Amino acid sequence: MKTATLLAALFTDCALGRNGLLWASLLLGVAAFCLAPVHPAALLLLVPALAVFALCLIDLIQTRHSLRRNFPASARFRWFFEWLRPFLRSYIVEGDLEGRPFSLDTRALVYARATGATDAHPFGTELDVYDGEYEWLAHSMVPNTHADAAMRVQVGSSQCTQPYSASRLNISAMSFGALSANAIEALNLGAKMGGFYHDTGEGGLSPYHLRHGGDIVWELGSGYFGCRTADGQFDPERFRDRASDERVKMTEIKLSQGAKPGHGGVLPGPKVSEEIAHIRGVPAGRTAFPPQPTAHFPHQGNCWNLLPECVNCPVANRWGSNSA
Ligand SMILES: Cc1cc2nc3c(=O)[nH]c(=O)nc-3n(C[C@H](O)[C@H](O)[C@H](O)COP(=O)(O)O)c2cc1C
Repeated sequence: MKTATLLAALFTDCALGRNGLLWASLLLGVAAFCLAPVHPAALLLLVPALAVFALCLIDLIQTRHSLRRNFPASARFRWFFEWLRPFLRSYIVEGDLEGRPFSLDTRALVYARATGATDAHPFGTELDVYDGEYEWLAHSMVPNTHADAAMRVQVGSSQCTQPYSASRLNISAMSFGALSANAIEALNLGAKMGGFYHDTGEGGLSPYHLRHGGDIVWELGSGYFGCRTADGQFDPERFRDRASDERVKMTEIKLSQGAKPGHGGVLPGPKVSEEIAHIRGVPAGRTAFPPQPTAHFPHQGNCWNLLPECVNCPVANRWGSNSA
């Protein structure tokens, strides 16, 4: 670099701003010298001043990076922040559900499982269900005076021996085990009073579901809780015995743990009491894992393999047809 060009670069084209660190380090050096007779410790300022000044000279003289040459030393902040950016984004800016290819939530799940930490957290969703891609029902602000008092849907055609007339709003699946006995009883009593059905959830059919006589939909999940053999296979005999109860109106076959892939339906060991173990047909005190995927439908949607087994149960015949 010619000396004349170098000198011109120091004094032209917004020179003060571009070479700010160079001038600042020079000023600091001069100040350190001036203050030294009064405060000898001021000489310590020479250390940063000389370091920054040397960095500025290196950047000014080199010819590889135009940015460093035009903005001696200060250009390096760009690379510093570029280095810092992923950390700032990841830890401060990025939302829990953002980030590609894996969101913070997904990564946290992997870390938790890899380190044996708790990987499940109950209730609610972090998804923005108010976003355009979601649809939901909302209460009307003005009651519809023409509304049918008993809007019901018939489940089961003429081929079905006992079709079921279902309410449009019912109690969604929540297992005994996830909910207490009192809660199950309260829900079932509500179903009885309101004329809608109560879904057992995949935790099986408990005495609490049957105590008040509300209509029951028995959910069969991949663990076949309540109608499984000791090795976790579907047990048609047990299914028939339980499903023959007149309060069980339909069977719901759950294809997969859609909302909670991986840990949906898991009941932690400490919650598997003797009673729950008996109802589900699993060992007490051991975490009840529904397998992924369901043995009868390893490929999603292929639940038809299970249906013949349900249909072959004499009493369950009607539910096999219904739940399809
Ligand atoms: C405590 C609890 C237990 C649940 N257990 C089951 C279950 O066993 N099977 C199932 O299909 N869904 C289960 N769910 C999901 C609910 O049936 C329902 O689909 C979910 O909570 C979404 O409805 P919501 O927005 O009204 O809560 C459970 C939900 C809760 C809160």
